[in-house]
Amino acid sequence: MRVLIAGGTGFLGRAIVAALTDRNVDVSVLTRDAARAADTYPFLSASFVEGNLEDPDALVAAMVDMDAAIFTVQFSGYPVEAPAVGRTFLEVDTGGTQSLAYAANRAGVPKIIYLSGVGADVSSKRVWYQAKGLAEKAVQEAGPTWSIIRPSWVYGPDDVSLNRFVNLVRKIPFFFPQLGPGSQQITPLFIDDLAVLVRDVVLGKRGDGAILEVGGPETITLDEIVRTTMRLLEREKPILHFPLWLVRPAAKVIGWLPGQLFSADALDFLTQDGVADLAETSRCFPNFRPQKFETALKSYLEVIS
Ligand SMILES: NC(=O)c1ccc[n+]([C@@H]2O[C@H](COP(=O)([O-])OP(=O)(O)OC[C@H]3O[C@@H](n4cnc5c(N)ncnc54)[C@H](OP(=O)(O)O)[C@@H]3O)[C@@H](O)[C@H]2O)c1
Repeated sequence: MRVLIAGGTGFLGRAIVAALTDRNVDVSVLTRDAARAADTYPFLSASFVEGNLEDPDALVAAMVDMDAAIFTVQFSGYPVEAPAVGRTFLEVDTGGTQSLAYAANRAGVPKIIYLSGVGADVSSKRVWYQAKGLAEKAVQEAGPTWSIIRPSWVYGPDDVSLNRFVNLVRKIPFFFPQLGPGSQQITPLFIDDLAVLVRDVVLGKRGDGAILEVGGPETITLDEIVRTTMRLLEREKPILHFPLWLVRPAAKVIGWLPGQLFSADALDFLTQDGVADLAETSRCFPNFRPQKFETALKSYLEVIS
């Protein structure tokens, strides 16, 4: 079996590549810079093919003779948008996924899998949910058999979000700084569990035509995530909450500065709920048993020491 993965060098993509190559799937990774990708990720048993979302012909060429294509692309600096250089949810998440889905159809790929996110909704007021909703629509209407996977907050040894918490716990001595109340509800999902699910969707038919929300087995708050992390690191300390009314004006000002530093939208993105409804995933994949947050974090915390 041959599979093309757009975004295969990313956090989600790398884990999916590893899960597929473990099953002897012949994987090609679409990347904007094949030489850099081969240098940076020599441990991926995949071939690297150069292509950019803005080049439809390159996308088609990369997908010819593939049995399936996976789309897990996101703009650099996400979730802080940079409209001047086309790094926005609508341009990359929606426009990029549309280009990929159309290219897959032109190349005759029989099956496409899109990594969306919980909350995807074409009519949402939040641009990131709207962009994902529009991308899902493009995937559903492109022609090939499709599966849509909507992960909640994904963590693992190579993530950028939980690792930031781990660093803050280690480096700041007396308190943990938290943006907002820390009360948002999340179903944290271990990266390896997501990768196995995507692999099973690619290799079988159970996820065909399904929208699969996927998260971990428990709904917990961001503060609980921080407290568990502190306990496992044996560095417990108070959480100091910076209220949103205080942080938002600063985020707005930073958003006006050059560079992709932060923005008010990114603040909203980072402080929102992210709860997956596992019903459809459990119906299609009854053996899917994602790990609890504490168990999974404990299993790799030493690796990132
Ligand atoms: N991380 C999470 O917790 C999470 C949760 C739910 C949903 N998701 C969704 O999962 C997807 C992947 O997220 P991630 O965290 O893995 O992202 P990531 O680590 O930032 O990876 C982004 C990937 O997109 C590729 N890319 C960016 N611009 C491109 C372009 N113009 N042409 C071709 N490729 C391009 C990059 O490849 P090169 O740099 O090699 O070109 C990279 O492999 C996103 O759609 C995200 O919304 C993520």
